[in-house]
Amino acid sequence: MTQGSVHIPVLLDAVLEGLNVAAHPDGLFIDGTVGAGGHASAILTAAPGSRLLGFDRDPRSLAIAESTLASFGHRVTLIHASFETMDTAAPAHGFAAVDGILLDLGLSSMHVGEAERGFAFKQDGPLDMRFDPSSGGPTAADLVNRLFPDELADIIYRYGEDRDSRRIARAIVAARPITTTRQLADVIAGAHHGPRDKIHPATRTFQALRVAVNDELGTLERVLPRAVALLKPGGRLAVISFHSLEDRIVKQFFKTESTDCLCPPRQIVCTCGHVASLTPITHKPVEADDAEIARNPRSRSAKLRIVEKRGDRADEVTQT
Ligand SMILES: C[S@@+](CC[C@H](N)C(=O)[O-])C[C@H]1O[C@@H](n2cnc3c(N)ncnc32)[C@H](O)[C@@H]1O
Repeated sequence: MTQGSVHIPVLLDAVLEGLNVAAHPDGLFIDGTVGAGGHASAILTAAPGSRLLGFDRDPRSLAIAESTLASFGHRVTLIHASFETMDTAAPAHGFAAVDGILLDLGLSSMHVGEAERGFAFKQDGPLDMRFDPSSGGPTAADLVNRLFPDELADIIYRYGEDRDSRRIARAIVAARPITTTRQLADVIAGAHHGPRDKIHPATRTFQALRVAVNDELGTLERVLPRAVALLKPGGRLAVISFHSLEDRIVKQFFKTESTDCLCPPRQIVCTCGHVASLTPITHKPVEADDAEIARNPRSRSAKLRIVEKRGDRADEVTQT
Protein backbone atom coordinates (compact mmCIF):
# COMPACT_ATOMS: atom_id res chain seq x y z
CA MET A 1 0.00 0.00 0.00
CA THR A 2 1.23 3.48 -0.73
CA GLN A 3 1.09 6.30 1.73
CA GLY A 4 -2.32 7.92 1.86
CA SER A 5 -4.09 4.69 0.91
CA VAL A 6 -5.97 4.47 4.20
CA HIS A 7 -9.64 4.61 3.30
CA ILE A 8 -11.63 7.58 4.64
CA PRO A 9 -15.41 6.96 4.55
CA VAL A 10 -17.16 9.55 2.37
CA LEU A 11 -20.24 11.59 3.32
CA LEU A 12 -20.22 9.89 6.72
CA ASP A 13 -22.53 12.30 8.58
CA ALA A 14 -24.99 12.39 5.70
CA VAL A 15 -25.09 8.57 5.64
CA LEU A 16 -25.72 8.31 9.40
CA GLU A 17 -28.40 10.97 9.28
CA GLY A 18 -29.93 9.71 6.03
CA LEU A 19 -30.19 6.13 7.30
CA ASN A 20 -31.77 7.45 10.51
CA VAL A 21 -29.27 5.38 12.45
CA ALA A 22 -29.67 7.10 15.84
CA ALA A 23 -33.44 6.47 15.72
CA HIS A 24 -32.75 2.70 15.70
CA PRO A 25 -30.42 2.10 18.65
CA ASP A 26 -31.20 -1.65 18.51
CA GLY A 27 -31.58 -1.74 14.73
CA LEU A 28 -30.44 -4.18 12.10
CA PHE A 29 -28.21 -2.76 9.36
CA ILE A 30 -26.58 -4.16 6.24
CA ASP A 31 -23.40 -2.70 4.79
CA GLY A 32 -23.18 -4.19 1.29
CA THR A 33 -19.68 -2.80 0.72
CA VAL A 34 -18.03 -2.96 4.12
CA GLY A 35 -14.53 -2.17 2.77
CA ALA A 36 -12.29 -0.95 5.59
CA GLY A 37 -15.30 -0.77 7.92
CA GLY A 38 -15.40 3.02 8.27
CA HIS A 39 -19.14 3.50 7.70
CA ALA A 40 -19.93 0.23 9.51
CA SER A 41 -17.99 1.29 12.59
CA ALA A 42 -19.80 4.64 12.71
CA ILE A 43 -23.22 2.94 12.36
CA LEU A 44 -22.45 0.48 15.17
CA THR A 45 -21.26 3.35 17.39
CA ALA A 46 -24.25 5.60 16.68
CA ALA A 47 -26.72 2.76 17.35
CA PRO A 48 -25.15 1.07 20.38
CA GLY A 49 -27.47 -1.97 20.50
CA SER A 50 -27.55 -2.54 16.75
CA ARG A 51 -26.22 -5.45 14.71
CA LEU A 52 -24.61 -5.18 11.29
CA LEU A 53 -24.16 -7.63 8.44
CA GLY A 54 -21.25 -6.65 6.18
CA PHE A 55 -20.52 -7.93 2.68
CA ASP A 56 -17.40 -7.49 0.60
CA ARG A 57 -16.30 -9.24 -2.54
CA ASP A 58 -12.67 -8.60 -1.74
CA PRO A 59 -11.13 -10.96 0.82
CA ARG A 60 -8.39 -8.42 1.65
CA SER A 61 -10.88 -5.63 2.38
CA LEU A 62 -12.85 -8.04 4.51
CA ALA A 63 -9.75 -8.89 6.56
CA ILE A 64 -9.25 -5.16 7.22
CA ALA A 65 -12.93 -4.78 8.18
CA GLU A 66 -12.59 -7.73 10.54
CA SER A 67 -9.83 -5.99 12.44
CA THR A 68 -11.51 -2.52 12.35
CA LEU A 69 -14.77 -3.97 13.67
CA ALA A 70 -13.32 -6.54 16.10
CA SER A 71 -14.24 -4.48 19.17
CA PHE A 72 -17.97 -4.76 18.27
CA GLY A 73 -17.74 -8.54 18.77
CA HIS A 74 -20.91 -10.54 18.07
CA ARG A 75 -22.74 -7.42 16.84
CA VAL A 76 -20.97 -7.81 13.49
CA THR A 77 -21.18 -10.60 10.93
CA LEU A 78 -19.00 -10.39 7.83
CA ILE A 79 -19.57 -12.32 4.63
CA HIS A 80 -17.20 -12.77 1.71
CA ALA A 81 -19.67 -12.45 -1.15
CA SER A 82 -21.10 -9.97 -3.62
CA PHE A 83 -23.83 -7.77 -2.16
CA GLU A 84 -26.19 -9.11 -4.81
CA THR A 85 -26.46 -12.31 -2.72
CA MET A 86 -28.02 -10.39 0.18
CA ASP A 87 -31.55 -11.58 -0.61
CA THR A 88 -30.61 -15.11 0.45
CA ALA A 89 -27.55 -14.52 2.67
CA ALA A 90 -29.14 -11.87 4.91
CA PRO A 91 -32.22 -13.89 6.03
CA ALA A 92 -29.92 -16.87 6.65
CA HIS A 93 -28.04 -14.70 9.18
CA GLY A 94 -31.13 -13.30 10.93
CA PHE A 95 -31.32 -10.13 8.81
CA ALA A 96 -34.64 -10.80 7.05
CA ALA A 97 -36.14 -7.34 7.71
CA VAL A 98 -33.70 -4.50 8.36
CA ASP A 99 -33.72 -0.81 9.27
CA GLY A 100 -31.04 0.40 6.89
CA ILE A 101 -28.82 -0.71 4.02
CA LEU A 102 -25.74 1.08 2.69
CA LEU A 103 -24.02 0.56 -0.66
CA ASP A 104 -20.82 2.62 -1.03
CA LEU A 105 -19.89 1.56 -4.54
CA GLY A 106 -16.66 1.02 -6.37
CA LEU A 107 -13.08 1.00 -5.24
CA SER A 108 -11.56 1.75 -1.88
CA SER A 109 -8.37 3.73 -1.44
CA MET A 110 -6.65 0.45 -0.55
CA HIS A 111 -7.37 -0.90 -4.02
CA VAL A 112 -5.77 2.11 -5.65
CA GLY A 113 -2.84 2.02 -3.20
CA GLU A 114 -1.91 -1.62 -3.89
CA ALA A 115 -0.11 -1.73 -7.24
CA GLU A 116 -0.41 -5.52 -7.47
CA ARG A 117 -4.22 -5.30 -7.67
CA GLY A 118 -3.90 -3.64 -11.07
CA PHE A 119 -6.43 -0.82 -10.55
CA ALA A 120 -4.01 2.11 -10.72
CA PHE A 121 -2.28 3.44 -13.80
CA LYS A 122 0.03 5.66 -11.77
CA GLN A 123 1.87 2.63 -10.43
CA ASP A 124 3.06 -0.45 -12.28
CA GLY A 125 1.35 -3.73 -11.56
CA PRO A 126 -0.26 -6.73 -13.25
CA LEU A 127 -3.47 -5.93 -15.15
CA ASP A 128 -5.88 -7.69 -12.82
CA MET A 129 -8.68 -5.37 -11.49
CA ARG A 130 -10.81 -8.14 -9.95
CA PHE A 131 -12.35 -7.21 -6.61
CA ASP A 132 -12.24 -10.92 -5.83
CA PRO A 133 -9.03 -12.41 -7.23
CA SER A 134 -10.15 -15.83 -5.93
CA SER A 135 -13.22 -15.77 -8.21
CA GLY A 136 -11.40 -17.28 -11.18
CA GLY A 137 -13.16 -14.74 -13.41
CA PRO A 138 -11.43 -12.94 -16.29
CA THR A 139 -8.86 -10.24 -15.48
CA ALA A 140 -8.41 -6.92 -17.24
CA ALA A 141 -5.44 -8.51 -19.07
CA ASP A 142 -7.76 -11.21 -20.40
CA LEU A 143 -10.13 -8.57 -21.83
CA VAL A 144 -7.36 -6.39 -23.24
CA ASN A 145 -5.55 -9.28 -24.93
CA ARG A 146 -8.43 -11.48 -26.07
CA LEU A 147 -11.38 -9.35 -27.15
CA PHE A 148 -12.06 -8.36 -30.74
CA PRO A 149 -11.26 -4.68 -31.37
CA ASP A 150 -14.98 -3.80 -31.66
CA GLU A 151 -15.81 -5.52 -28.37
CA LEU A 152 -13.00 -3.67 -26.62
CA ALA A 153 -14.07 -0.35 -28.15
CA ASP A 154 -17.67 -0.96 -27.01
CA ILE A 155 -16.53 -1.56 -23.43
CA ILE A 156 -14.39 1.61 -23.45
CA TYR A 157 -17.26 3.63 -24.90
CA ARG A 158 -20.11 2.24 -22.77
CA TYR A 159 -18.38 1.93 -19.41
CA GLY A 160 -15.77 4.66 -19.80
CA GLU A 161 -17.79 7.10 -21.95
CA ASP A 162 -14.61 7.80 -23.92
CA ARG A 163 -15.23 9.18 -27.41
CA ASP A 164 -11.75 8.01 -28.44
CA SER A 165 -12.77 4.39 -27.81
CA ARG A 166 -12.17 3.06 -31.34
CA ARG A 167 -8.76 4.67 -31.63
CA ILE A 168 -7.75 3.41 -28.17
CA ALA A 169 -8.98 -0.12 -28.95
CA ARG A 170 -6.96 -0.19 -32.19
CA ALA A 171 -3.82 0.98 -30.36
CA ILE A 172 -4.31 -1.67 -27.67
CA VAL A 173 -4.76 -4.44 -30.23
CA ALA A 174 -1.61 -3.29 -32.08
CA ALA A 175 0.42 -3.33 -28.85
CA ARG A 176 -0.65 -6.80 -27.65
CA PRO A 177 0.31 -8.56 -25.45
CA ILE A 178 -0.23 -5.97 -22.70
CA THR A 179 0.34 -7.29 -19.22
CA THR A 180 0.93 -4.32 -16.90
CA THR A 181 -0.96 -1.20 -15.88
CA ARG A 182 1.87 1.13 -16.89
CA GLN A 183 2.16 -0.47 -20.33
CA LEU A 184 -1.58 -0.05 -20.90
CA ALA A 185 -1.58 3.55 -19.64
CA ASP A 186 1.30 4.40 -22.03
CA VAL A 187 -0.49 2.83 -25.01
CA ILE A 188 -3.67 4.80 -24.23
CA ALA A 189 -1.76 8.05 -23.74
CA GLY A 190 -0.10 7.47 -27.15
CA ALA A 191 -3.49 6.96 -28.81
CA HIS A 192 -5.06 10.05 -27.29
CA HIS A 193 -5.70 12.95 -29.66
CA GLY A 194 -6.98 16.44 -29.15
CA PRO A 195 -6.50 18.87 -26.28
CA ARG A 196 -5.32 17.57 -22.92
CA ASP A 197 -8.13 16.84 -20.52
CA LYS A 198 -7.94 17.62 -16.82
CA ILE A 199 -7.85 13.88 -16.18
CA HIS A 200 -5.18 11.41 -17.33
CA PRO A 201 -6.12 9.97 -20.77
CA ALA A 202 -6.15 6.44 -19.29
CA THR A 203 -8.71 7.27 -16.58
CA ARG A 204 -11.79 6.37 -18.62
CA THR A 205 -10.39 3.16 -20.11
CA PHE A 206 -9.26 1.95 -16.67
CA GLN A 207 -12.73 2.68 -15.29
CA ALA A 208 -14.33 0.85 -18.22
CA LEU A 209 -12.19 -2.26 -17.79
CA ARG A 210 -12.82 -2.34 -14.03
CA VAL A 211 -16.58 -2.02 -14.53
CA ALA A 212 -16.54 -4.82 -17.12
CA VAL A 213 -14.24 -7.16 -15.15
CA ASN A 214 -16.45 -6.91 -12.05
CA ASP A 215 -19.81 -6.58 -13.86
CA GLU A 216 -20.36 -3.54 -11.65
CA LEU A 217 -23.46 -2.22 -13.42
CA GLY A 218 -25.12 -5.66 -13.56
CA THR A 219 -24.52 -6.28 -9.84
CA LEU A 220 -25.94 -2.85 -9.01
CA GLU A 221 -29.06 -3.41 -11.12
CA ARG A 222 -29.65 -6.77 -9.46
CA VAL A 223 -29.06 -5.67 -5.86
CA LEU A 224 -31.39 -2.66 -5.75
CA PRO A 225 -34.74 -4.54 -5.77
CA ARG A 226 -33.28 -7.22 -3.49
CA ALA A 227 -32.18 -4.58 -0.99
CA VAL A 228 -35.62 -2.92 -1.01
CA ALA A 229 -37.24 -6.32 -0.38
CA LEU A 230 -35.13 -6.71 2.79
CA LEU A 231 -36.13 -3.33 4.28
CA LYS A 232 -38.80 -3.04 6.97
CA PRO A 233 -41.49 -0.45 6.19
CA GLY A 234 -39.77 2.82 7.15
CA GLY A 235 -36.34 1.25 6.53
CA ARG A 236 -33.91 3.17 4.35
CA LEU A 237 -31.52 2.42 1.51
CA ALA A 238 -28.54 4.72 0.92
CA VAL A 239 -26.35 4.41 -2.19
CA ILE A 240 -23.13 6.32 -2.82
CA SER A 241 -22.00 6.22 -6.45
CA PHE A 242 -18.83 7.59 -7.99
CA HIS A 243 -19.60 7.88 -11.69
CA SER A 244 -22.55 8.83 -13.84
CA LEU A 245 -23.28 5.29 -15.08
CA GLU A 246 -23.88 4.03 -11.54
CA ASP A 247 -25.73 7.16 -10.48
CA ARG A 248 -28.07 6.91 -13.48
CA ILE A 249 -29.05 3.35 -12.52
CA VAL A 250 -29.72 4.36 -8.90
CA LYS A 251 -31.62 7.52 -9.85
CA GLN A 252 -33.81 5.70 -12.39
CA PHE A 253 -34.60 2.81 -10.03
CA PHE A 254 -35.48 5.16 -7.16
CA LYS A 255 -37.65 7.26 -9.46
CA THR A 256 -39.53 4.28 -10.91
CA GLU A 257 -40.13 2.70 -7.52
CA SER A 258 -41.32 6.03 -6.08
CA THR A 259 -43.97 6.37 -8.80
CA ASP A 260 -47.43 4.82 -8.70
CA CYS A 261 -48.55 4.46 -12.28
CA LEU A 262 -45.97 3.93 -15.04
CA CYS A 263 -48.42 4.08 -17.95
CA PRO A 264 -47.64 6.59 -20.75
CA PRO A 265 -48.61 10.13 -19.60
CA ARG A 266 -51.44 10.44 -22.16
CA GLN A 267 -53.15 7.25 -21.02
CA ILE A 268 -56.14 8.25 -18.87
CA VAL A 269 -56.85 4.93 -17.15
CA CYS A 270 -53.97 3.06 -15.53
CA THR A 271 -53.47 -0.44 -16.85
CA CYS A 272 -50.03 -1.15 -15.39
CA GLY A 273 -51.11 -1.29 -11.74
CA HIS A 274 -47.67 -0.25 -10.57
CA VAL A 275 -47.64 0.88 -6.93
CA ALA A 276 -44.78 2.93 -5.49
CA SER A 277 -42.83 1.08 -2.82
CA LEU A 278 -40.40 3.90 -2.00
CA THR A 279 -40.40 7.51 -0.85
CA PRO A 280 -37.40 9.61 -1.88
CA ILE A 281 -35.53 11.13 1.08
CA THR A 282 -32.99 12.99 -1.07
CA HIS A 283 -34.49 14.82 -4.05
CA LYS A 284 -31.06 15.78 -5.34
CA PRO A 285 -27.94 13.73 -4.66
CA VAL A 286 -25.98 14.77 -1.57
CA GLU A 287 -22.40 15.75 -2.45
CA ALA A 288 -19.28 16.46 -0.43
CA ASP A 289 -18.62 20.09 0.54
CA ASP A 290 -15.30 21.84 -0.06
CA ALA A 291 -13.95 20.97 3.39
CA GLU A 292 -14.56 17.25 2.85
CA ILE A 293 -13.08 17.35 -0.65
CA ALA A 294 -9.96 19.05 0.74
CA ARG A 295 -9.68 16.36 3.45
CA ASN A 296 -10.54 13.48 1.15
CA PRO A 297 -10.19 14.19 -2.60
CA ARG A 298 -11.89 10.85 -3.36
CA SER A 299 -15.16 12.36 -2.15
CA ARG A 300 -15.21 14.82 -5.07
CA SER A 301 -17.28 12.60 -7.35
CA ALA A 302 -19.44 10.98 -4.65
CA LYS A 303 -23.23 11.21 -4.98
CA LEU A 304 -25.46 9.94 -2.19
CA ARG A 305 -29.13 9.08 -2.81
CA ILE A 306 -31.50 7.78 -0.14
CA VAL A 307 -34.99 6.27 -0.22
CA GLU A 308 -37.37 4.99 2.44
CA LYS A 309 -39.56 1.92 2.05
CA ARG A 310 -43.25 2.70 2.29
CA GLY A 311 -45.64 0.74 4.49
CA ASP A 312 -48.23 -1.67 3.15
CA ARG A 313 -50.29 0.58 0.85
CA ALA A 314 -52.89 -1.96 -0.27
CA ASP A 315 -55.75 -0.13 1.58
CA GLU A 316 -54.63 3.32 0.46
CA VAL A 317 -54.51 2.21 -3.17
CA THR A 318 -57.97 0.58 -3.20
CA GLN A 319 -59.58 3.62 -1.54
CA THR A 320 -58.42 6.05 -4.24
C1 LIG B 1 -15.80 2.38 -1.50
S1 LIG B 1 -15.35 0.90 -0.76
C2 LIG B 1 -16.30 0.87 0.72
C3 LIG B 1 -15.65 1.56 1.87
C4 LIG B 1 -16.42 1.47 3.17
N1 LIG B 1 -17.71 2.11 3.09
C5 LIG B 1 -15.62 2.05 4.30
O1 LIG B 1 -16.10 3.00 4.95
O2 LIG B 1 -14.51 1.58 4.55
C6 LIG B 1 -16.19 -0.24 -1.74
C7 LIG B 1 -15.99 -1.70 -1.33
O3 LIG B 1 -16.98 -2.45 -1.99
C8 LIG B 1 -16.45 -3.67 -2.40
N2 LIG B 1 -17.31 -4.14 -3.49
C9 LIG B 1 -17.38 -3.70 -4.76
N3 LIG B 1 -18.35 -4.35 -5.42
C10 LIG B 1 -18.91 -5.21 -4.53
C11 LIG B 1 -19.97 -6.16 -4.61
N4 LIG B 1 -20.65 -6.37 -5.74
N5 LIG B 1 -20.29 -6.84 -3.49
C12 LIG B 1 -19.64 -6.65 -2.33
N6 LIG B 1 -18.60 -5.77 -2.21
C13 LIG B 1 -18.26 -5.07 -3.30
C14 LIG B 1 -15.03 -3.35 -2.78
O4 LIG B 1 -14.22 -4.51 -2.67
C15 LIG B 1 -14.67 -2.29 -1.72
O5 LIG B 1 -14.04 -2.87 -0.61
